[in-house]
Amino acid sequence: MNHNMHEQQPLRQTIYYGTFIHTPTPTTLSVLEKTSIGVSSTGTIIFIEPLSPTDAASKHSWSTYTTTRTPSSTSFFFPGLIDTHTHASQYPNVGLFGSSTLLSWLETYTFPLESSYTSLARARTVYRRVVARTLSHGTTCAAYYATIHVPSTNLLADICHSRGQRALIGRVCMDRMSPEHYRDESPATALQHTKDVTAHIRALDPEGALIRPIVTPRFAPSCTSACLSTLSSYAESEDLWTQTHISENSSEIELVRSLFPGSPNYAGVYDCFDLLTPKTILAHAVHLTPEEVRLIAARGSKVSHCPVSNSALTSGAAEVRTLLDAGIDVGLGTDMSGGYSASVLEVARQAMLVSRVVALRDGERGRDGEKAKLGVEEVLYLATKGGARCVGLEGVVGGFEVGMEWDAQLVSLEKVDAGSFVDGAESERFGDEQGGYDDDVLDQTAGPVDIFGWESWPDLVAKWLYGGDDRNVLKVWVRGRLVHVLGGGALRERVEND
Ligand code: GUN
Ligand code: FE
Repeated sequence: MNHNMHEQQPLRQTIYYGTFIHTPTPTTLSVLEKTSIGVSSTGTIIFIEPLSPTDAASKHSWSTYTTTRTPSSTSFFFPGLIDTHTHASQYPNVGLFGSSTLLSWLETYTFPLESSYTSLARARTVYRRVVARTLSHGTTCAAYYATIHVPSTNLLADICHSRGQRALIGRVCMDRMSPEHYRDESPATALQHTKDVTAHIRALDPEGALIRPIVTPRFAPSCTSACLSTLSSYAESEDLWTQTHISENSSEIELVRSLFPGSPNYAGVYDCFDLLTPKTILAHAVHLTPEEVRLIAARGSKVSHCPVSNSALTSGAAEVRTLLDAGIDVGLGTDMSGGYSASVLEVARQAMLVSRVVALRDGERGRDGEKAKLGVEEVLYLATKGGARCVGLEGVVGGFEVGMEWDAQLVSLEKVDAGSFVDGAESERFGDEQGGYDDDVLDQTAGPVDIFGWESWPDLVAKWLYGGDDRNVLKVWVRGRLVHVLGGGALRERVEND
């Protein structure tokens, strides 16, 4: 890793040239070939022209600029991915959930880890890693939950700010149903500590250009009515976004029913405290009733779909098509460490599969099974533009449009090299009694996706969605600033030699 990269250097205006792929709508994959995108020194897209960099520059009277080109015929620029729901503090537990379900998982795995962030040293180690890791997967923006601890939550904001990742930072509020040492003493404590984090973030980034605070009541079972009501008033008075969990697991729903007997349902609990607003991100929404879907749609609240987590914790299969048809904005969330992966691409892939599980279930119930299935373009839309709508960055990030900011990744897939195969040579090498292997044929540092050269762009994108990983992310930018270069010894050489 080039350490200078982390310093805030003045940016030069840049022309990106090559193939650009994005999803302007949920059902369109737009491919712009031989195109120049001009990005200002403040990271804003100034022009998009089907011209060479030289011609585009002269058309726009740009005399000095840097040029960044796609390195091959199987590489392309794609918008940065948006993780609309994740717990930075739970990152060390990724992959650890055994066969638990939500409520036992919280007690066994989650609260013990989260409560340890009284240690700033631990917070520093974990949060630096989370931000580096998610950037390496092309995540340019994340809505984070931290823990109840103010200093370590502030540190997460500092790290995102200095590494240049866009983030919403949530100090977790909870005044019941967790171990006594990991709980807000009172609603007043929850509010004061939330204010402290807000003040820190406002000092760090007064305009909220990169980092914004987000009010974070953990979920209804963790918060008393007084806590929910206090936080709701605060969010409203300060015009802040809010994030929480909803309808993830059936035992959780039962628990909410018993804790809030006066409310008709889970969504009704939040609504009764005015927590369902157009600035609210609700994670999961797996088991919503039709009335709840209508209510959330009417309030304009957003849903973060977390299929990896929902399968891992056997929470269920969310009906994304139903949410979309109701007009709800949906984004994707890794929900680490309910989810086992830091990658939003993995979440998009699992959203495809879970939608097919829903399709099968619908078919068994005599409904049209085809309807539920999400398409490649749709899940990539949810990962980019859809996510942007969920975090209040509609029109700012998520696509390639004049006026948007350059939050992007350079994706490169390995083209199978016909020249590696010498006719006749295979039989000699593989016929070897000693048992030979041909180590020239595979470059495993380039990731597992094989492109043969005859694929259309949509086919290439589908292959990336199903098989791609961080080895395919050569570079990542946020607001025009380079924030990640594929790193690590031999891998970095591959990028630098391009
Ligand atoms: N509900 C309340 N807290 C959590 C959490 O940390 N993760 C998930 N997935 N659901 C929750
Ligand atoms: Fe979560």
